[in-house]
Amino acid sequence: MHIQPIDLTVFLSLAVCITPLAAEPLGLPPVPIPANNPQSSEKVKLGEKLFKDPRFSTTSSVSCSTCHDENKAFTDSPKTVSEGINQLKGTRNAPTVLNAAYMRTLFWDGREPDLEGQAGQPFLNPVEMGLKDYTPILTIVRNDPQYAASFKSVFGKSGDQITINEVTKAIASFERTKISANSRFDRFYFGGDSKALDAAEQRGFTVFMTQGRCVSCHTIAQTHALFTDNRFHNLNVGFDRINQDVRELATEFSKAKQAGTKVDIAVLGNKNTSELGRFAVDDQWSDMGAFKTPTLRNVEATAPYMHDGSLKTLEDVVDFYNNGGLVKKEDTVNAFQSGGIRPLNLDDQQKKDLVAFLKTLTSPEIQKQLKE
Ligand code: HEC
Ligand code: HEC
Repeated sequence: MHIQPIDLTVFLSLAVCITPLAAEPLGLPPVPIPANNPQSSEKVKLGEKLFKDPRFSTTSSVSCSTCHDENKAFTDSPKTVSEGINQLKGTRNAPTVLNAAYMRTLFWDGREPDLEGQAGQPFLNPVEMGLKDYTPILTIVRNDPQYAASFKSVFGKSGDQITINEVTKAIASFERTKISANSRFDRFYFGGDSKALDAAEQRGFTVFMTQGRCVSCHTIAQTHALFTDNRFHNLNVGFDRINQDVRELATEFSKAKQAGTKVDIAVLGNKNTSELGRFAVDDQWSDMGAFKTPTLRNVEATAPYMHDGSLKTLEDVVDFYNNGGLVKKEDTVNAFQSGGIRPLNLDDQQKKDLVAFLKTLTSPEIQKQLKE
């Protein structure tokens, strides 16, 4: 037996093929995978099909991808708030599913602890997919031959053994593959490519880290950057709507919750209730009007901004922060506003540079979409 040089080449090319697939994208840590829902390529494919299937809504016209469109960085940009069945409007702007796998809680108010739990809610929300219960979904996946075969082979279950838990597990597995990094910022900061950012973008990064104080909530770690502290802050976005009678509203809502009102349906169905933010979930006054810090990755592609979609451009966002959490300087802050938000005294050049920096957080595949 001779080992031919060709064998070595085959071996090497295999190794080269495998390594980049297994490696994490530059700038993100390994994806956390729950022990009770391991990844498999077949499960991911099933999840993608479920994610894109409009039959799971009362009108057979709305799927998860209606509001989380892969061609729009998994949002419904430029919609201010999402539209479900019969063009019914919710109260909140759709966050991206990209990198949602890293979030410690899901939704703007963190009301679900994991992607599996999150995926069960939109089907039953009257302004999203509108179903009364999961029966119509289960009827389809138990009887459609393709679904039945997939559920059998992925979960070893068929007929009545298939429940909503398998449906949401598959969707969550699909979402855990939607990881997006390797932006110009990542190449600059983690990849050691000092030319990946131009001078203005580098100045913007300095503003982000220092005078702008952005990094205190949109965090950057030593080896990766999620751009979120996974915490909740009242920035004074949209709080005007309830500031006058917040005490009555809060008491009323807490009572309704005890009487059985579902948080998911209440916050997406009523603009005032929506503004209670994290308070609606945990009844803590310190969380009044507080919303989860979103990631800033791919933010260039996901306008408009904030939980209510009230800020149209990144320039508007930077002005808002520069004014200490005010859209117009003559507006007023509220008593629950985060201590981390205060006037920044950035000059026009610094504001421009900061916006330029935010646009370096776009991943290559999203950059391609923006150019198309
Ligand atoms: C009608 C539009 C609409 C549909 C349909 C929809 N979503 Fe969403 N999605 C939203 C909005 C709006 C939010 C934010 C709601 C909130 O925070 O209260 C959201 C939040 C999320 C989040 C949380 C992201 C984060 O960072 O916290 C995930 C994940 C998600 N949706 C996945 C899904 C999945 C899976 C489906 C299908 C089962 C789905 N969505 C269907 C509009 C929609
Ligand atoms: C005290 C914590 C905190 C600080 C400091 C902070 N942010 Fe935020 N940021 C948040 C939270 C929380 C939200 C969502 C608020 C809401 O919708 O009510 C947010 C939202 C955003 C959004 C909108 C993202 C989207 O998908 O809608 C952008 C852009 C943003 N911040 C950029 C910045 C920049 C730039 C700075 C520095 C000038 C900064 N942030 C400072 C916590 C913070």
